[in-house]
Amino acid sequence: MPKIVTLPGDGIGPEVTAAAVEVLREVAPDVTIEEHAIGGGAYDTYGDPLPQRTRDALEDADAALLGTVGGAHNSPWNTLPRHLRPESGLLALRKMLGCYANLRPVRVQPGLEHLSPLKPELARGVDILIVRELLGGIYFDGDRKIEGDTAYNTMRYTTAEVERVAKVAFWAAEQRKGRVTSVDKANVLEVSELWRRDVQALRDREYRSIHLNHEYVDSVAMLIVANPGRYDVIVTENLFGDILSDLAAVIPGSLGLMPSASLGDGTGLFEPIHGSAPDISGQGIANPAAAIMSVGMMLRHGLQRGDAANVVDRAVALALREHPTRDLGGRADTRTFTRTVLDAMGTPAVG
Ligand code: NAD
Ligand code: IPM
Ligand code: MN
Repeated sequence: MPKIVTLPGDGIGPEVTAAAVEVLREVAPDVTIEEHAIGGGAYDTYGDPLPQRTRDALEDADAALLGTVGGAHNSPWNTLPRHLRPESGLLALRKMLGCYANLRPVRVQPGLEHLSPLKPELARGVDILIVRELLGGIYFDGDRKIEGDTAYNTMRYTTAEVERVAKVAFWAAEQRKGRVTSVDKANVLEVSELWRRDVQALRDREYRSIHLNHEYVDSVAMLIVANPGRYDVIVTENLFGDILSDLAAVIPGSLGLMPSASLGDGTGLFEPIHGSAPDISGQGIANPAAAIMSVGMMLRHGLQRGDAANVVDRAVALALREHPTRDLGGRADTRTFTRTVLDAMGTPAVG
């Protein structure tokens, strides 16, 4: 019996996680689900954004499902010492699980082009996989401090870190259209120079069937929305991947449509890419689709249940057609949308 640890977190995290758990229970009734604390709420209760009891529960978990962490700009959590802030709990969790590759799919399902603010001919058929490096770069290690009127962070990568995430991107491309775009800032940054050199060398050594090209991050920020159809797999470092994936959420139409899978050597972590949305939390109107689709990614990548994942994805697409949430210009609240997904899961597949 697989054990799933859920970590609802802060803001809309508990709202979207509750929806995702309902769907998980329906599609995989045999799993055991254990809920634990993370983020600002965990700090308030236990004095730690990733409490020991949460770490212990993850030891024998088959997968973890995260909601969101963090508060509003004026939250008292934001003035805590950095290691006690909600976001540090999430970073520590990713590190602890060894999740170095974060898969962020950007898809416009057939018949859902109207949810995109892009022209339908640009949105139609978009299917991009952003592979974001998740345990390195400016987020982790290296010198970091703020001293009076001067502050430092250090962007650092090693060949081993670049290669392990690039392998995931090449592997994914092999199951898709065979194209990888590596995104960097090699015209300015030494770290990017190493990144580009190592990704190309790995391709030339082990993945000669893959078509690899290199693009600069500033240009990709434009092209990914101006002509998203040109991308298959994108691989990039931690911070660039964070920013580009929020930008790419414009293509399907909302951050609420962006799930993710964080994979590595051990337990996988499945999380919507959006934050705790303090502006709408507590109102019951958050779009739970990204969290529900993250359950789909968990079934596919964490539990090897591809058929169940397909059932979830199909039901979400149907619900988006029937009862879109407010972020997509619709009227459904979280409850109505989730109900529609659950109902759709019970209807037989067409075609
Ligand atoms: P955000 O992603 O929380 O919100 C950005 C905008 O998108 C808001 O207008 C919000 O209402 C909307 N939005 C996001 N998810 C939505 C959903 N599911 N349905 C409907 N609308 C949705 O980003 P932010 O406001 O910059 O950050 C808020 C907090 O979240 C901060 O504390 C930040 O550190 C944290 N954060 C956490 C995660 C995470 O837990 N993985 C990710 C990003 C940001
Ligand atoms: C994300 C978030 C996190 C990140 C924060 C909350 C630490 O923005 O998951 O995209 O920057 O990785
Ligand atoms: Mn982000």
